[in-house]
Amino acid sequence: AAYPAFRGAIADFLHNPFLHRESESVRYFPDGLLILENGQIKAIGDYQTLHTQYPHLDITDYSGKLILPGFIDLHIHYPQTETIASYGEQLLEWLEKYVFPVEKKFQDPDYAQTIADFFLDELLRNGTTTAVVLTTIFPQSVDVLFTAAQERQMRMIAGQMLMNRNAPDFLLNTPQSAYEQTQNLIQKWHRQDRLLYAVTPRFAPTSTPEDLEIAGYLLRQYSDLYLHTHLSENTQEIAWIKQLFPKASDYLNVYEQFGLVTERSIFAHGIHLSDSERQRLSQSQSAIAFCPTSNLFLGSGLFNLQATQTPSPAIPVGLATDVGAGTSFSLFKTMGDGYKVLQLQGQALSPFQGFYLSTLGAAQALHLEAKIGNFEPGKEADFIIINPASTPLMKLRNQNQMPPETLSELADQLFTLMILGDDRNIEATYILGNLWKDNEQLTMNN
Ligand code: GUN
Ligand code: FE
Repeated sequence: AAYPAFRGAIADFLHNPFLHRESESVRYFPDGLLILENGQIKAIGDYQTLHTQYPHLDITDYSGKLILPGFIDLHIHYPQTETIASYGEQLLEWLEKYVFPVEKKFQDPDYAQTIADFFLDELLRNGTTTAVVLTTIFPQSVDVLFTAAQERQMRMIAGQMLMNRNAPDFLLNTPQSAYEQTQNLIQKWHRQDRLLYAVTPRFAPTSTPEDLEIAGYLLRQYSDLYLHTHLSENTQEIAWIKQLFPKASDYLNVYEQFGLVTERSIFAHGIHLSDSERQRLSQSQSAIAFCPTSNLFLGSGLFNLQATQTPSPAIPVGLATDVGAGTSFSLFKTMGDGYKVLQLQGQALSPFQGFYLSTLGAAQALHLEAKIGNFEPGKEADFIIINPASTPLMKLRNQNQMPPETLSELADQLFTLMILGDDRNIEATYILGNLWKDNEQLTMNN
């Protein structure tokens, strides 16, 4: 039988461009071929060379297009899909005014399912094939999300939110009920197909010490769960932490006290960290989700990427949209705002760094680099087809380099995608080698 294969300009990363020379970090085949077997990568290489090695191929021709690994979004809230673009507030007021009332609606499983389906299709339309997702306190809101991800065969990390104070009553669970419900959800979903569970206290202010104790207990009970929460996003939030946890030496220390700072922890934001906190994150090898569109939108501050890369070892970082404080599902737009956030600090985000933080870098931060993040043989075949000239302006800008011949032409084209790109550039998304089709889009077009 013929292997499925895809021809086009193929790029991925083999190394971390923050640690290696960029030209050695990226792998690029201007006329490339990606060969699959059983939903996994079988081979990657130059079209002419590989085609003689594998004469029996069923080739889909994407010549003139870029083929990249699917994007990984390291932090996003599915219930906030409809909260996106809510005017005028910073973090704590924004949560009260816009987010909490919307999250209440997710106690209705039918409603939650409608949004879960919309949310996952929107991720896929934007070329995101793996995401680390926050839900609500309602266990049924977690069930419908995992079900919808399983139907689409997506790799996804999610978990029930733990909150037991400082929010409206309708959004509070108790440590006891959360513990039982979380146990059930872990047994039902963790390691089913491509799904993984994250214990998810919303952030320290909405949990009592007892609630965080439960989170730590769950992590110790199952050694391979993730811990997913927010850290040091907003200066008012940090002042509040000092009042709520007077014995903690700083924000990170609150999580440390309950055993929540490990190499399987994912902390969103980390904007206002001290050197000591960064040193400890370097030691624990916890991941930080860099959420530039959100940080600009809520006026939270500028993430100092360089300061996370100077400790040894560097703190693992990945890009994240943080919808609905984030303003786009697109990792292109997220990279573009990341570039601007770093420009304001005299740093920069090179195109190879930006795409690395959205693919292999995020996979490494999640310890999933054996399964996703690039096109090494044996990895899961999640990939996207990018049309770098989907709008008149992009066509004009990229007209002389279709496909890019050299690495510097590739970098230039990736940079135009970072700055000008959006969902219009994602021509197709493949999950485990299968072309994903958006049912809603199809019915709307017919
Ligand atoms: N901190 C606690 N909850 C949230 C949330 O929903 N969004 C953001 N951006 N920060 C938070
Ligand atoms: Fe968030």
